[in-house]
Amino acid sequence: MGVSFDKIDGFIWFDGKLVPWADANVHVLTHGLHYASCVFEGERAYSGSIFKSREHSERLKRSAQILDFEIPYSIAEVDAAKQLVIDRNGLPDAYVRAFAWRGSEMMGVSAPTNSIHVAIACWTWPSYFDPAERLKGIRIGLAEYRRPDPRTIPALAKASGLYMICTISKHIAERKGYAEALMLDWEGRIAECTSANVFFIKDGKVHTPIADCFLDGITRQTVIDLARRRGIEVIERRIMPDEMSNFSECFITGSAAEITPVSEIAHWRFTPGALSKQLMEDYSAEVQPRNTKAVAYSALASSQNTSPSDSSVSSQRKDISG
Ligand SMILES: Cc1ncc(COP(=O)(O)O)c(C=O)c1O
Repeated sequence: MGVSFDKIDGFIWFDGKLVPWADANVHVLTHGLHYASCVFEGERAYSGSIFKSREHSERLKRSAQILDFEIPYSIAEVDAAKQLVIDRNGLPDAYVRAFAWRGSEMMGVSAPTNSIHVAIACWTWPSYFDPAERLKGIRIGLAEYRRPDPRTIPALAKASGLYMICTISKHIAERKGYAEALMLDWEGRIAECTSANVFFIKDGKVHTPIADCFLDGITRQTVIDLARRRGIEVIERRIMPDEMSNFSECFITGSAAEITPVSEIAHWRFTPGALSKQLMEDYSAEVQPRNTKAVAYSALASSQNTSPSDSSVSSQRKDISG
């Protein structure tokens, strides 16, 4: 096991300020911890720039609104703070975690006036799956738990509560020797993995489940776009597990997982092939930056009256807005 996540050296952006990593703490009586009133993003920086940073910040804000709270920073400010975190930690190629949660003022199910906190951390995360295994395809088990009916939970938010069954399912899969777990949806159709979306290939066409009861990943949308740009047909549809015997290739997508080929899901077998490899190459090219860094910094500098080199980015948001 590596260094524990509370022991890393570096800075975390916490409610408007960069603080030493060890000081980014919350009280045990925090609503987000007890009632899962917490939303988050997982993103990747490539060569000093976060891929689709804005889309992730927008989703973070949207997820919070679905959970009935408002993040007290603009999208441009969140973007700028994320950029500052990777720059100040000296990690141009990093995984970035931005998150927001309800604080401690009220400790019951209802907590409409609790303070809202935001933090951003980043760390090195080279490849989500073992690199050697990644190229030959990972093995995935079928999860017992299903993605719930969207009428029973806000399924499209990237909210902590939705990850409870992901952690249970991934632990069970790992104990059986798998790298991931595939969840069906509440009606028994293929849904997604515990932290990634899934794609299949058959006769040169790409098939993927409709994202209406699970996360419509930003990587998923990117891959659909990349495939279509190459003239490859992408079919979003309901897919039953039995259909997996007809697919030749399979891969999963996510900001952390990027595009990871799959060799097996339970008793179904796939052979990572030319189309998966092509899309992996296209994705690697697509994530490389196109000079967005200066724009991101200017948002923080103008709204919070700080220079990019200032380590205490700003005072608390309430001071900024007041
Ligand atoms: C459950 C789940 N599905 C799908 C994804 C892929 O989403 P994205 O491509 O936006 O990272 C993730 C990762 O965030 C996830 O946790």
